[in-house]
Amino acid sequence: MNNITQSAAWQNLQAHQINTANIRMRELFEADPQRFDNMHETLHGLLFDYSKNRISEETLQLLCELAETAGLEQQAEAMRRGGKINISEKRAVLHTALRLPADAAPVLVDGENVIPAVHRELDRALAFAESLINGVHTGATGKRITDFVHIGIGGSDLGPQLAVQALQPFHKNVHVHFVSNSDDANIAQVLAPLNAETTVFCVASKSFGTPETLLNAHAARAWFRDSGLREADIARHFAAISSDVAAARNFGIAPDNVFAMFDWVGGRYSVWSAIGLPVMVAVGSTHFRKFLSGAHAMDEHFFNTPLRRNIPVLLALIGIWYGNFCGAHGQAVVPYSHNLRRLPGYLQQLDMESNGKRRTLHGDTVECHTGGIVFGEEGVNCQHAFFQLLHQGTRLIPADFIVPMRTPYKIGRQHRFTVANAFAQTEALMRGKTLEEARAELAALPEAEREELAPQKEFPGNQPSNSILIEELNPFNLGMLIAMYEHKVFAQGAIWGINSFDQWGVEYGKVLAKNIEPELAHTQNTQHDTSTNGLIAFYHKCNP
Ligand code: F6P
Repeated sequence: MNNITQSAAWQNLQAHQINTANIRMRELFEADPQRFDNMHETLHGLLFDYSKNRISEETLQLLCELAETAGLEQQAEAMRRGGKINISEKRAVLHTALRLPADAAPVLVDGENVIPAVHRELDRALAFAESLINGVHTGATGKRITDFVHIGIGGSDLGPQLAVQALQPFHKNVHVHFVSNSDDANIAQVLAPLNAETTVFCVASKSFGTPETLLNAHAARAWFRDSGLREADIARHFAAISSDVAAARNFGIAPDNVFAMFDWVGGRYSVWSAIGLPVMVAVGSTHFRKFLSGAHAMDEHFFNTPLRRNIPVLLALIGIWYGNFCGAHGQAVVPYSHNLRRLPGYLQQLDMESNGKRRTLHGDTVECHTGGIVFGEEGVNCQHAFFQLLHQGTRLIPADFIVPMRTPYKIGRQHRFTVANAFAQTEALMRGKTLEEARAELAALPEAEREELAPQKEFPGNQPSNSILIEELNPFNLGMLIAMYEHKVFAQGAIWGINSFDQWGVEYGKVLAKNIEPELAHTQNTQHDTSTNGLIAFYHKCNP
């Protein structure tokens, strides 16, 4: 079937939505004391509660039938076995192989088992990280390395940044910094406090052709030279991660410091590869291996659990229910954890770059919405920003609440307060507040005033949320969490019948900037639309 919207399973869901349009979660909870029991799953240190959704057991059955119709399990198996499911780039999609143990059954790409190469590169990268942590790899002047600057963008930045921040309590002794933006404020601020003698730079680019990354890499090299060190010293102070090893070496990076990526790992799925080097440097090899084990545990769950009990699949199906059948306007992601504050940004790339597609695998135009609009902010800050719209706005926006149950910091009641807020928000979003309840709260006011104010204090409720609780934010649980979202995104793409693993739209953007930059360098007649010509003219006025 070329278009999933033509299937009976899709049409059954459309009919079901019409029949259940007035479903009220509040009433579902009142009617069924077992609702939480039947609608949550646990896996190792993770609890996934999806009971606060506008769904019934029948909805879930129909959604599972949709997944079956789309051949989700067969597609997942094809990915796991190394099938070239990224058809527009003729590549296998094997980030799951990066977290397989060394003695796992062979995974073949073009007839070759990839596991030995995965562990060879992993061991090399971990050994390099350890040599920085324990001071064996010193700078050219013999000083201990204190700072590691990771230069990359998109998938070569977001995953590592998320993990380095998330695992702050596990940090060792090397400070890890990130430069991603071509805006020079980024690199200027990172470099300002650093000493070249005690700094190692790492250029991370799968293609080694991304202009932002190369621009920053050249700026870092110039800064290094200007600091008085010699060209030959670059060998001890620069590393690279790329699938184009030759290009990295041509940049002047010592072969021993070049770590290979595999072409069957997409950038936004690459934190498990050598791209995770900043994570390795931050937390060391033991913790990084636990991070991989957590992801592998989620892989095992995803590949081996029936659809109805499968956490990433349930997340995907509930997302499809709202996005395709209930008219949702977006998907909020709210980690109640300062250390997980990069999660929304990370998921924006993972989800929107993977599933922001309008053609099916067969080249047809899709007939339904695909990737959703992902946004978010750390809790509780988000409560003082966009939550008003969730509570009383007119739009349907399901939210994922990600909440660690324990804190390593233990300062006052901070953590308990934060968790209480997360739980309270999910309850309030679900229950809302009726006009009657609002009136009762205002009982002390004179009647006229009460009648005027009560409608303002009414909350429709019935706003869906998933609660994803983890016992604590440690490497294993972080690995599970990220892998859970990777598989959610995969499952949605598989059901829509799109390729979640290419990104031609972004490639186009890279070409466009190339044309305009020379026009900013020198005043000339530009041949764009009048708006773009006007913008270029203003730039020249500001930079005479
Ligand atoms: O943003 C587009 C993109 O191609 C991403 O998919 C990728 O993660 C990023 O650029 C960086 O690419 P590279 O690792 O090749 O520098």
